[in-house]
Amino acid sequence: MSKQTLLSASTATGNLTLGNYIGAINNWTKLQEQYDCFYMVADLHALTVKQDPKQLQERSLSFYAQYLALGLDPEKNTVFMQSHVSEHSELAWILNCMTPMGNLNRMTQFKEKSLKNSKNINAGLFTYPVLMAADILLYQTHLVPVGEDQKQHLELARDIVTFFANRYGDTFTMPEAYIGKVGARVMSLQEPTSKMSKSDDNEKAYVSIIDTPKKIQKKIKGAVTDTGTVVSYDKENKPGISNLMTIYSVLSGMSMDEITAKFEGKMYGHLKVDLADLVCDTLKPVQDKYADLMNNKDYLEDIMAKNALKAKERANKTLIDVYNKVGLYPGRR
Ligand code: TYM
Repeated sequence: MSKQTLLSASTATGNLTLGNYIGAINNWTKLQEQYDCFYMVADLHALTVKQDPKQLQERSLSFYAQYLALGLDPEKNTVFMQSHVSEHSELAWILNCMTPMGNLNRMTQFKEKSLKNSKNINAGLFTYPVLMAADILLYQTHLVPVGEDQKQHLELARDIVTFFANRYGDTFTMPEAYIGKVGARVMSLQEPTSKMSKSDDNEKAYVSIIDTPKKIQKKIKGAVTDTGTVVSYDKENKPGISNLMTIYSVLSGMSMDEITAKFEGKMYGHLKVDLADLVCDTLKPVQDKYADLMNNKDYLEDIMAKNALKAKERANKTLIDVYNKVGLYPGRR
């Protein structure tokens, strides 16, 4: 039996963080044997906020290299740059024409991002989830591993499958979200009641995958924790220490009870010291591989081109079917 399809992506803004790793990429690597996987650097999505063109290019390459360094296999699966497969923008247009404004108005991320970018509330920011639906639906995707913050966008993609089917008949596979039980929402190190965001203006709020060990140590030891000293998980009353315990749990494979037992009679500071070492040890091999890859840009560009072709072949099939169904004049190859 052929494998089911999986797709996921990260937007090429800010820095890939421990939140992205724990909430999403860690699950991507775990699922890559079981599924036919498509992993994408969402560079078109990045344009919804103002970008310095040179920086965007550099960041997109860096994200691509980080994907490979984190363990995504571009031979077994398809790891590609969104803008290299023009079908994404093309399908997004068609889907835009059948997505009610009312549905987009309900997107909490649009509301949050509009507040943050009040001087640049552009149409792309508003229709961002439609492009995301196109990303998913083009590959007839069954499973989409994401963190909790993307759940609403996934629901919109599912609604779009139904809108389209009601007008033109069954066309797209209904995608399911895959959200991990622990770590689906890693919190900011400075404000543990908000999500760790890769575009946070305060660098101390997140650990980047490619931060130096010295920076990692400093950021984790400087993480805001709650009053009290006992290491125990209580998300409501002790969000700071609970967040650090979550990171510890995912990276060590230990349960919250095991962590509580390990730090019994010890202080928050002990957990921070151990956690900082654990994060550095986890990221060391990733960072070494990343450095090698970034020294081999020709290899990266070659593999990127091959993977874009693989993606395009699949995406084009769906797009031709869609163009025919909506009544565009036949002739697209
Ligand atoms: P992005 O780039 O914001 O995040 C990439 C992935 O990381 C997850 N994530 C987190 N998980 C746990 N804790 C956090 N603090 C945290 N921050 C981020 C996100 O949920 C996501 O899974 N729109 C998407 C990118 C995208 C996409 C797609 C995703 C474009 N097309 C198609 C899935 C399918 C985004 O901006 O993710």
